Amino acid sequence: MTAPNAANTARNVHGRRPPAPVPGDRELSRLELLLRLRQNPLTIWRQRHFREPIVAGEGIFGYGVVLSAPVAIRHVLVENAANYRKDDLQRTILAPGLGEGLLTVEGEAWKRARRTLAPLFTPRAVAALARRMLGPAEATAQRMARRRPGRVVDIAQDMTRVTYDILAETMFSNAIAGGADAFGKALTRYFETQGKIDPLDILGAPAWVPRLGRWMARPAISFFETQVAAIIAERQALRRHSPPPDGAPDLLDALLAARDPETGTGLSEAEIGANIITFIGAGHETTANALTWSLFLLSQAPETQEALEAEVDAAGDDLAAAALSGSGLALTRAVIEEAMRLYPPVPSLSRTALADDAVGGRCFIPKGALVVISPYLLHRHKTLWREPDRFHPERFMPGARETIERYAYLPFGAGPRVCIGQQFAMVEASIVLATLVRTLRFEHAGEPPTPVHHVTLRPRHGMPMRVTSRKGIE
Ligand code: HEM
Repeated sequence: MTAPNAANTARNVHGRRPPAPVPGDRELSRLELLLRLRQNPLTIWRQRHFREPIVAGEGIFGYGVVLSAPVAIRHVLVENAANYRKDDLQRTILAPGLGEGLLTVEGEAWKRARRTLAPLFTPRAVAALARRMLGPAEATAQRMARRRPGRVVDIAQDMTRVTYDILAETMFSNAIAGGADAFGKALTRYFETQGKIDPLDILGAPAWVPRLGRWMARPAISFFETQVAAIIAERQALRRHSPPPDGAPDLLDALLAARDPETGTGLSEAEIGANIITFIGAGHETTANALTWSLFLLSQAPETQEALEAEVDAAGDDLAAAALSGSGLALTRAVIEEAMRLYPPVPSLSRTALADDAVGGRCFIPKGALVVISPYLLHRHKTLWREPDRFHPERFMPGARETIERYAYLPFGAGPRVCIGQQFAMVEASIVLATLVRTLRFEHAGEPPTPVHHVTLRPRHGMPMRVTSRKGIE
């Protein structure tokens, strides 16, 4: 399906495989599974998961089905989506921080919220926000260029900061009452603590049993809640006196003005707050990781890096227009998509079956079963990709991209709960990557990174890199 041509195959990544846990053959004991789920869920997958389209059986969560057959995935996420809800584990981990935001609500509340919020993320709405992304992207490139030449820095932190700055700019025009830094730090703390799977969750202990991670994340969560309430109050007061400036509303203006197209009702203050936190929670680390892995993979593939530099140099000054045009930054986009194939920022999706179901007469899914769809597994599945463990951005270039089966590539999920911020994220990541590559070059320093799944898929010890200015570019 996605065969790269032979010349590209030979010269990419110098035959090196981008780092990933090597799957074993032996079945894991329950204790091993428990430990691995806590430390790095990527390591639970066995060789057969990468070969077999469906793996079913009793696990620590009860009866579970791991689906990597595109037709079965389409069935669960799209055709019979009403029979599946986000599973309790996913909700327990996310809900305390993300409250009643779009990512965690279910049923009628979700339908209403999705209808109301959809207009905020249409291609047109994203195009209107794209220009706001340029400033933070350029500021990041300049900040990185000013550092002492040859110094090794953790670019994962830079990517976390730039995606946060872009959200702060597109969301509240960067008007954060307590200061962007404090807000960003609270967010990092949240992800470091809340984001880990707690053995008590796996064992199904009731929600009132205190979890260490949750307890440590609590101050960060209350900090957001207070901050977000202050930001909303400030904006409401401002809007009472003056309309949005020169017709360029940010996402907060759009949230305050949003109306359910069916009932005409707006969002409550609590819903607005929960969705702000949700957008930051769902859109910040994810995009940052997509960028971090893109830069790493590029650093390992000098020919692709050069081709990318040529594309960006030819794209002209207006990188926002180029990113939106679809064709202007085709390789930039392809690199990001290939990075998200190898290192999907959301490596696992899970659902619980509400009633018995059968997938194409092949697989019976009983009521209550846990259904796992792992983009990480799917994107490296031996039956779906040629050279699945290699970096070949050509797969995603126009012409080849269309031949990829829709349900074989799921960085943003699929069906009614598909990522609402998908266009936003792709435009954002393209603008940031193109802006960086325009003037800078990245060289990985130190040991190969270890990918680890802690809510998002990140490098365990950050991404140390040497950043230099491209020759002849100031
Ligand atoms: C590279 C970046 C991103 C990736 C890989 C990503 C991935 C995903 C995935 C896989 C889902 C579906 C989860 C499921 O079905 O269980 C999702 C949902 C969601 N994403 Fe993203 N996301 C990204 C960026 C963003 C951004 C920038 C925003 C907002 C500004 C955002 C907001 C959301 C929301 C609100 C949902 C829940 C949608 C619903 O349930 O109706 N995401 N995302």
